[in-house]
Amino acid sequence: MEVLRYCLWSWFSLSNLMTMLFLSLFSSPSVLGATVIPFKLNALCKFCDVLPSSCNSTGICSSQCNITSICVHPDEVCVAIWRTYGQNMTEETICHDPSIPLYGVSLDDYNNSQCQMKQYKQLGPDAYMCSCKEDECNDQLIFTPDILNPTKIGDISVILVTLIPLLLTVVIVSFFYIYWVNYSSKFKSKPKSLCPGHDFCDRQAIISDMDQSENSTALANCINHNTELLPIQLDTIVGKGRFAEVYRAKLKQKPTDNVPFQTVAVKIFPLEEYTSWKSELEIFSDAELRHENILQFLTAEEHRSKHQLWLITAFHHIGNLQEFLRNNLITWKQLHRLCLSLARGVAHLHSDITLCGRPKVSVAHRDLKSSNVLVKDDLTCCLCDFGLSLRLNHTLSTEELANSGQVGTARYMAPEVLESRMNLENIESFKQTDVYSMALVLWEITSRCTAIGEVKEYELPFGKLRDHPCVESMKDSVIRDRERPEIPSSWTEHLGIKSLCGTIQECWDLDPEARLTANCVVERLSDLQDLNFDSVSSSLEDKIQNI
Ligand code: ADE
Repeated sequence: MEVLRYCLWSWFSLSNLMTMLFLSLFSSPSVLGATVIPFKLNALCKFCDVLPSSCNSTGICSSQCNITSICVHPDEVCVAIWRTYGQNMTEETICHDPSIPLYGVSLDDYNNSQCQMKQYKQLGPDAYMCSCKEDECNDQLIFTPDILNPTKIGDISVILVTLIPLLLTVVIVSFFYIYWVNYSSKFKSKPKSLCPGHDFCDRQAIISDMDQSENSTALANCINHNTELLPIQLDTIVGKGRFAEVYRAKLKQKPTDNVPFQTVAVKIFPLEEYTSWKSELEIFSDAELRHENILQFLTAEEHRSKHQLWLITAFHHIGNLQEFLRNNLITWKQLHRLCLSLARGVAHLHSDITLCGRPKVSVAHRDLKSSNVLVKDDLTCCLCDFGLSLRLNHTLSTEELANSGQVGTARYMAPEVLESRMNLENIESFKQTDVYSMALVLWEITSRCTAIGEVKEYELPFGKLRDHPCVESMKDSVIRDRERPEIPSSWTEHLGIKSLCGTIQECWDLDPEARLTANCVVERLSDLQDLNFDSVSSSLEDKIQNI
């Protein structure tokens, strides 16, 4: 028994040593040849306030926090607090001055280099807290029990036997984590979100669980409150809208990230357009809005000294759908991909449930048009410009509803919007007007497909009308003359396009109630996915591109 104890103990010490060596080897800047800095630098800590957590309070967990903040005061250290509430778990990551008690607890472990979770009676039975000094040390929440504390040891051999697999797991997990941190960024092209959200269904939502009154908290979480603004360098202007200008920009990355910068888009509002900035931010602040066909939001910043308000999002270098269609012809496959992804984006926006089944607030875009759709590298669409969007929660006041009548771009306005006779009491009406506008965009995409026969120069829907037609001339065309964009008979020789045109016509019906829902359009288009209408002509089409 003694021999066994001795072996286990030696093994434990060795693996512990290995783990420490391993972690310090890969995380210490001294290995990278960093010079010793003679003065005290402010700590760099994870700082997300409260987020849902998927830790189970055994082993080591990585936090879910994507925001690294430079602490405001040089005395502040990194702190993490982990709590359970029934089935739910949260983690709080902050900077804190250890000379001041936090939640009634005097921090006694802040000289540690790692965040070793401990229970404190002041925090209640289901909470742990740790503090530490190394950069971003509150990213790793270490829950392993303090085995050297004799009061907790019943039989050390039993503890050691249970610890061995745990230590092995720690070593393996650390290895994969370090590998992931060091190498995976090379392969990741997606920008990292700075705002709480979830890309995967198995993560828990916090914002979705909030009611509307709590949306202001979500909003606050999505503004970069650090005294330091993000290291962003503006490049060229790529778009100009009613209220703001959009720039391509470089977001400087951490030295460990392998790439020097990430390209992002920065939408800059003058301070006078605070309301537009805030309403777009309010839409983006709902973590459940995240979807591959909706522009990915990163964070918002107030640049008060420059009298500017920023929204920082992913950048898509192909640009907007209108410019893409103006300069390119597309094949049936590409047409199908663009249309299906567009309908998926609108369906998600309108939906009151996420793909993972969590509740979300339905949103009406209210300014859908080809210039408010971006084309991603994989030739799928994502919706952007939510400046006029409306959250369709049931608490909308009659005043808010009354003010929400005629907005958008006249060319793409549904007949009932042109006539200001929308049923404002029914939130479905707002979705029906979006479906009408989406139908015009689907028609625009179809008009540039080589499978329709002769493809003309690119034209906007109702292209014969002048540049920015007014509401009155749109009313004449759309309501009095019942005009819609032309669908020549040659288009319907291709069975896929014939079916798509049928769907488009059902979406621009004069009667809003008769229109399809965006979800129904997704289903119709998905049904066309695997049908091979003309293998010969589609392979020919693939060659006729990019005129
Ligand atoms: N134009 C407007 N927003 C854009 C974005 N996020 N990426 C590229 N072009 C844009």
